Amino acid sequence: MTKYYKIKKIDGGNMNILYIFAHPEPKSFNSSMKEMAIRHLKEQGNEVKLSDLHGMRFKPVLDQSDFLQRRKNDSFNAFLEQMNASIEGTFSEDIITEMEKVKWADFLIFHFPIYFTGMPAIMKGWIDRVFSAGFAFNPIKQNFYEEGLLKGKKAMMVITTGAEEEWYSKGGKHGDIEELLRYITHCTFEYVGLEVMDTHLTFGAGKMSEQRGNEELKRYQERLNTLFPQDR
Ligand SMILES: Cc1cc2nc3c(=O)[nH]c(=O)nc-3n(C[C@H](O)[C@H](O)[C@H](O)COP(=O)(O)O)c2cc1C
Repeated sequence: MTKYYKIKKIDGGNMNILYIFAHPEPKSFNSSMKEMAIRHLKEQGNEVKLSDLHGMRFKPVLDQSDFLQRRKNDSFNAFLEQMNASIEGTFSEDIITEMEKVKWADFLIFHFPIYFTGMPAIMKGWIDRVFSAGFAFNPIKQNFYEEGLLKGKKAMMVITTGAEEEWYSKGGKHGDIEELLRYITHCTFEYVGLEVMDTHLTFGAGKMSEQRGNEELKRYQERLNTLFPQDR
């Protein structure tokens, strides 16, 4: 089922887009997609902020050092410390910076090559650390799904795969990619209240001719045009 939305800001203004990107090679096809997308979205009058996770050397692991102040010192309970840091404003600097970008954004784009049919660790770590309890959802007040704390914002994944499309089809070797990614689209994004757009998929991206690469860049640009039309 394909859902294409035209997205308009309620006040009729341009969109604030946070582009979260995870690829270790600046000369990769993924990096070309990201460069084109940011240029194009800005040309259309949108504001874009980039979190280039490898470029930033983003710390991917949630641990004690995420908290400037501890609620409980004798043992580490991640949810408890996240809740406390959300109230006290005592997350580490790198988390606060990313949270400010999320607060600012109307639309979040998560762009990555698929690794073992999921996100690369660096992007999963961004979610673990930034979509924290007390900021993106609240387990005490039951703020998730319809009541998720990021309600009102939208999200989309942009994913390249090494495998060809038939591997990720119903009955294919890996199985239906939409179903496999549901733990992200539903259990992560919708869980925190985000409205989820269809994933933009580029299959067989590991071995593309220059011609196919150019076609895929054009297809991605056209997808962006459907999401952020210029006639707003
Ligand atoms: C650690 C790792 C795991 C991968 N797992 C998958 C996978 O599960 N499915 C798949 O189709 N491709 C997988 N790939 C291939 C990448 O998704 C593919 O190379 C990428 O999408 C194409 O972009 P790139 O060549 O610029 O990295 C994996 C690659 C790496 C490095």
